[in-house]
Amino acid sequence: MSIKHKVIFDTDPGVDDAMALYFALAHPDIEVLGITTTFGNVTVQQATENALYLTRIAGRAIPVAQGVSVPLSKAPGLPPGFIHGDDGLGNLPTRVSVQGQAEACSAAEYIVKMARAYPGEITLVAVAPLGNLGLALRLEPALPQLLKKVVLMAGTINEPGNVSPVAEANVWNDPDAADLVFTAGWNLAMVGLDVTHRVVIPSGFFTQLAAHQQHIATDTLKHAADFYCNFYSAIRPDLGHACYGHDVLAFVYLVAPELFTTAKGRIRVAKEGIANGQTMMDKHGSLFYPQPGWEAEKPETHACLQINAEAAMALIDTTLKGNWLLPALTA
Ligand code: BDR
Ligand code: CA
Repeated sequence: MSIKHKVIFDTDPGVDDAMALYFALAHPDIEVLGITTTFGNVTVQQATENALYLTRIAGRAIPVAQGVSVPLSKAPGLPPGFIHGDDGLGNLPTRVSVQGQAEACSAAEYIVKMARAYPGEITLVAVAPLGNLGLALRLEPALPQLLKKVVLMAGTINEPGNVSPVAEANVWNDPDAADLVFTAGWNLAMVGLDVTHRVVIPSGFFTQLAAHQQHIATDTLKHAADFYCNFYSAIRPDLGHACYGHDVLAFVYLVAPELFTTAKGRIRVAKEGIANGQTMMDKHGSLFYPQPGWEAEKPETHACLQINAEAAMALIDTTLKGNWLLPALTA
């Protein structure tokens, strides 16, 4: 029987990226063909090291291709070590040596190569700033037709932003790339803060997981999640020692879209000024606007606006507690 979703995972691991990766590896309907990395939560070099580390300690020799180190045109900033740790995984006290190294090609080249090799079969799940997708579009303008679909953890429509009152971090980190992605014309879904802020995961969940599945991968995730929950409990004490689900919900949407309510419409990104990184959705759909940029032929996105948070959490729980971990690929 063939696996339902062949995936390339574009990521900046990152604690919630690590959780998303492990959900994807654990879910029987998902096959992660390859991982592409970008700057964001950490430098791109650290993201690549983390992607290699997280896959190898979970026993998977999945290809990792390194991507962009800076935004397409915005001035680069510093990674938020206070959220994910300076190493992106909550400052792990030690790491084992693992096998493998990054691919010789860039992330954008890897995406294009794989899309051409499996036309119409691959879903790109991107949970980080979108420069790799932007560059891949420049390399292969027919990419939207070559990919089956694209699912983003990015943006926000009605929920306040997390890096400004209106902007979500992945979009704000590279607004030019994000606007290219929202106007490229692929089968596109956006899983943004409107739904990721509804799924609050207590640190006790990761403690339970590590006890249930004793393994270096679950210990690593628990350590990283503890650090991440320290950040969230400092800014949102009302949540308890907990974090938002963020990136994992892109995969939850992929395998269980029925848990989400979506709206379809044109989305554009503000690329400068006070609203930099804002994702704006046309909620009317059929009006003529004198403002250029909202022409009727601009592509539409399925934006997730609501989620059955309890069912999503149950799916995350049963998936991660399944029998998916293999012996670590140590060097
Ligand atoms: C997004 O930003 C990053 O910090 C997280 O990994 C997630 O992809 C949430 O806004
Ligand atoms: Ca991320």
